[in-house]
Amino acid sequence: PAEPLVLGIETSCDETGIGIVRGRMLLSNTIASSMDEHARYGGVVPEVAARAHLEELQPSIEAALAEAQVGLADLDAVAVTSGPGLAGALMVGVGAAKALAVSLGKPLYAVNHLVGHIAADILDAESGPLEYPTVALLVSGGHTSLLLVRDLTTDVELLGETMDDAAGEAFDKVARLLGLPYPGGPQIDRAAASGDPAAIRFPRGLSRASDMAEHRYDFSFSGLKTAVARWIEQREAAGEEMPVADVAASFREAVVDVLVTKALDACARYDVPRLLLGGGVIANRRLRDVATERAAAAGVTVRIPDLKLCTDNGAMIAALAAELIASGRGPSTLAFGADSTLPV
Ligand code: KG4
Ligand code: ZN
Repeated sequence: PAEPLVLGIETSCDETGIGIVRGRMLLSNTIASSMDEHARYGGVVPEVAARAHLEELQPSIEAALAEAQVGLADLDAVAVTSGPGLAGALMVGVGAAKALAVSLGKPLYAVNHLVGHIAADILDAESGPLEYPTVALLVSGGHTSLLLVRDLTTDVELLGETMDDAAGEAFDKVARLLGLPYPGGPQIDRAAASGDPAAIRFPRGLSRASDMAEHRYDFSFSGLKTAVARWIEQREAAGEEMPVADVAASFREAVVDVLVTKALDACARYDVPRLLLGGGVIANRRLRDVATERAAAAGVTVRIPDLKLCTDNGAMIAALAAELIASGRGPSTLAFGADSTLPV
């Protein structure tokens, strides 16, 4: 049979993503972000994100269809993120996907956002087929998760995740402490370029020997954020000039160190020579460099899909549904809802 033509809808956070794939071929990937609207609040405001999705969905679907040069009637299936994510934001996408599938009389696939991030790799034509097993590290403004993927459609195990802030959220919060605008990740990355990563030793969360039994693959960034806040306060109280570049570089180093250390520890422990990276924080220069260097030293191959496929998007959701169809999985019934804490 011909490869299925699938339209994917992603609205779990602040990106309205519509993607169209034919099997493993990417046809279009339209992303509209409400990031600018959240900037003055210093973080994503769920209500604002949900309203933006409502306004963006229709024009985004039309743009994606036009770019892919297909019509709604050509679609073989509709796919949507049903979780995890912001409940109100998810509901907008789920509602739209149900309406579309019912009106077209086409099957509907509800998929997991985190597994979707892994599926993004399939669409990167340059990286070759996704090989199993692989460890996947997903880092964004909404999640920080480490997964063991034995098979994308049947066997994805969550090894650990953040206990508090997501890594991107930590970047955003620390940027704010340093007086840098939202989103803070790119700002810190830029400021850190001229700083010394060893200037200040900030804590690596959940990395003590006593954490290894229960939280070996979990992350925590709130203690790090507090440590940075305290360091800045003391500096200010002493009336000394703020070494923004050194603080940014030292903070970035602490985040990158703990992410890469835990990911490679999982590769070693499960004897998996592959590491897949995803999520918007992968844009971070230092994270890419440290992961690549340390993985090479450990004999682990790193895969990083194109950035447009790493940040939240609809194409990865469509790609996952196409894989489910190819593996013979039937569609979802219409009885599913939005699940903000949907497990993998
Ligand atoms: O995947 P993504 O686009 O979507 C959301 O989670 O909404 O990730 C956005 C997050 C933000 O927290 C942003 O500050 C962070 O990724 N980010 C970065 C960099 N670029 C974006 N964090 C660190 N370094 C970067 N270069
Ligand atoms: Zn995401």
